[in-house]
Amino acid sequence: MKRLLVLAVAVTALFANAQTFPGSKPITFVVPFAAGGPTDRVARDLAEAMRKSMGGGANFVVENVNGAGGTIGANKVAKALPDGHTLLLHHIGMAAAPGLYRKLPYKPLEDFEFLGMINEVPMTIIGKPQLPANNYRDFENYIRANSGKLNIAHAGLGSASHLCGLMWQSAINAKEAMTTIPFGGTAPAMNALVGGQVDMMCDQTTNTTGQIEAGRVKAFAVTTAKPLSGNKLLKDYPTLQEMGLKGFELTIWHGLYAPKGTPPAALAQINAALKLALKDPDFIRKQEGLGAVVVADKRVEPAAHKAFVAAEIAKIKPVIEAAGKFAD
Ligand code: MLT
Repeated sequence: MKRLLVLAVAVTALFANAQTFPGSKPITFVVPFAAGGPTDRVARDLAEAMRKSMGGGANFVVENVNGAGGTIGANKVAKALPDGHTLLLHHIGMAAAPGLYRKLPYKPLEDFEFLGMINEVPMTIIGKPQLPANNYRDFENYIRANSGKLNIAHAGLGSASHLCGLMWQSAINAKEAMTTIPFGGTAPAMNALVGGQVDMMCDQTTNTTGQIEAGRVKAFAVTTAKPLSGNKLLKDYPTLQEMGLKGFELTIWHGLYAPKGTPPAALAQINAALKLALKDPDFIRKQEGLGAVVVADKRVEPAAHKAFVAAEIAKIKPVIEAAGKFAD
């Protein structure tokens, strides 16, 4: 009887809340990686744009919950109170984790409400400044000449940097060439790379553009199918396909999620604010300056967002299985 009463009170509170959403309680973007990384950057820029698109009345907070390639933060939101105030801002890891974790503590397609896609982000193959190579071919030759002595950083099993590293090592058949070094996000990994404590990494342009421009890391290639000819810095780097890795393509994407059961009225308000924010010229300019492209197609709608993630899970699983011998 007591449990029933507690449930009734919770449900009443939820629906009462949905009428006055968001009210004075802040909306939290849970970022499942360390502060200062590419996902965190997207979250902070989007929070600013959504604060504006909700008329300035809503207060947004970004909470970094890193670890286990983003699955700890994702699970926290899957289990959160579904009142619209706790959202997950995550990337391709939503689709990569099912192929890398035998016991994932949440079901990506069942435990979340899908609120819309945000952007698509290229990745770059980068190295520490002390590396003797100054172009991709020399870099790959250097790896082969130092097989077993090098390491590659990533942000944990299932992270974008891990997935890219798996695919790239498999494509260049660098079987035992390098040890993988996991971090809580690619912000701490970048600090280690700039400091020369790790040798290389594959990371999103939202995190690497500034470091490349400042000469703190060396860039060798981009992971997109086509060159980034529209970006003044990244246009100078070849694609991995141009470097002979047939069919290699990897673009990271970010989306917004709420716990399953979040009131429809709250979901509709968040989705409407998201769509407005994605049209915000300031947000678009910031993203494009970092090599990212803001989503402007039907994937900003929940149903299309969910269908896209389901298709990505199906697409990535065999890729991981093919490269999976490198899984940590
Ligand atoms: C980050 O935000 O740290 C990265 O997106 C982590 C990753 O997925 O590589």
